[in-house]
Order: sequence, then structure tokens, then C-alpha cells
Amino acid sequence: MNNNVIFENAANWIKEAGERIKESFQTTLNIETKSNANDLVTNMDKETERFFISKIKEKFPEHKVLGEEGNGDDLEELSGVVWIIDPIDGTMNFVHQQRNFAISIGIYEDGVGKIGLIYDVVHDELYHAIKGQGAFVNDVRLSRLGEVTVSEAIIGINATWVTPNRRIDPSILGTLVRDARGTRSYGSAAIEIAQVAAGRLDAYMTLRLSPWDFAGGLVLIEEVGGMASTLKGEPIQLLEENSIFISKPGLHEEIMKEYLNKEW
Ligand code: IPD
Ligand code: CA
Ligand code: CA
Repeated sequence: MNNNVIFENAANWIKEAGERIKESFQTTLNIETKSNANDLVTNMDKETERFFISKIKEKFPEHKVLGEEGNGDDLEELSGVVWIIDPIDGTMNFVHQQRNFAISIGIYEDGVGKIGLIYDVVHDELYHAIKGQGAFVNDVRLSRLGEVTVSEAIIGINATWVTPNRRIDPSILGTLVRDARGTRSYGSAAIEIAQVAAGRLDAYMTLRLSPWDFAGGLVLIEEVGGMASTLKGEPIQLLEENSIFISKPGLHEEIMKEYLNKEW
């Protein structure tokens, strides 16, 4: 596959999709719920996914698509070229704030991440990476990530995980939150992973994400020398839900050793 040609097309389409989403601010959204009352989806999530699928199938008919809203292909494995798309990541922000949401695309070949794009539509910031060519925000190259300790770190984490929940003893992450310099929660996993790639957050962690939430971000993180694993320190499975722990390199080891490496 020619990564640069595919990237050029993806970047054009993502900007066009962003324009359409911004135009939708003038219209009345059709808002529905999915798995629960806080899991929102709008006509724009669905339309944006269909927009990408029609462009991809026209230009690259042999490529496959895995999309959050289910309009793509049914995939059980990642052979060939697969686009993993979240048409709007941060739908709750899109509906309530009309900002702080992104379009996320990861393009994989035989399971290897080749291209990642995360477009923060309202801030007009396009993060992208092509494997082996580095990562960028708009046209500015991102630096490789340096080391930092917990006491100097800003960690992206949702407050859910320090309240009683089904997935982790809240005191484990509560202790980390107490020890860190600060915490932030942006409400879009893709933007949070992009912020780690850009060095504006030192780590991001959550207990459950789907492939379309992290597929684009993983390519960015790899290009800046970041670490990505589950919260148990295991490799992330691309076609499954995972806990996700993305971090600067030394910080990843410190948090694994001092906080997460226990029964939970
Ligand atoms: C959600 C956002 C949110 C994360 C959720 C995701 P969506 O994606 O990324 O930040 O905490 O787990 O489901 O539903 O807005 O595409
Ligand atoms: Ca998402
Ligand atoms: Ca979404």
C-alpha cells in the first residue's frame, strides 16, 4: 500500500467531513441513545461514517472498514488494509458543547498500524502519523516523548474510575490521582491520546475502550516513542474492547510498578 497516497485522501476527506459537521451546528440534531441513557448517537455520527465508507469504497474498493456505527464490514480478523473509524469521538461533547470532539481514523495493514489521523474539528487541529515518518499536529512535527515522574505528571483520567465501579478498585487509581501533579478529563478518548502524543498530557488511562476509540491514536503514540498497553500491562487487542494505558515511557514503568501491579 502507498501510505502517502492513502494519507492524502484520508486527510482531504477528514477535513470535508469536519466542515459538514460544523455546518450541522445550524441544524436540529436527531439524538438517540444506544447502550444506556448517556451513550448518545446523532444523525451526524451516522452520516459521517457513511460519508467515509462511500469515499473509501469508491477510491480503494479492496480496503475494508470497521466503523463504530456498524455501516462498515463485519470483521473477524485484520488481514489486508482496514480503516478503523470513529466518525465522532466525544458525541456527548458534540451534543452538549459543540466542541471537544474528534474524527478518529486508524489505517492498518495486516494488523500493523500504518496511518493515524485524529481531527479536532472545532480547534481545526489535525494530528496525523504515518509509520516511520513521525507524527504531526497540522504541519508541525511532534517531538519524541521524554521521561517524567508521577509527581510531575498530568494524567488524563475520567472521575468514574475513582468512584465505585465494576472494573477496578477505586482506591488504586485514587492513590495515583492524589500523587500526580494534576488530572484532566476531556471526554474524547481520541483527543486525550492525541494530547499524550503532543506532550500536553503525560498519560491517559481508562478501563474500557473500543477499537475505533484508540486505533488512530496508537499510530501517533508509536511514532513519538510513547508506551501503549492495557492497565494490566498486556498488549492491546485491536479488535476487542480493552482497558487502555498510554504514557510517556518512564512514567509507564513507574505507574505499572507502583500502582497497577497488584490484585484488582
Ligand atoms: C467515547 C469517548 C469517551 C470515552 C468513552 C467513549 P464516543 O466515545 O471517547 O471519552 O470515555 O469510553 O465511548 O461514544 O463519544 O464515540
Ligand atoms: Ca468513541
Ligand atoms: Ca463515536
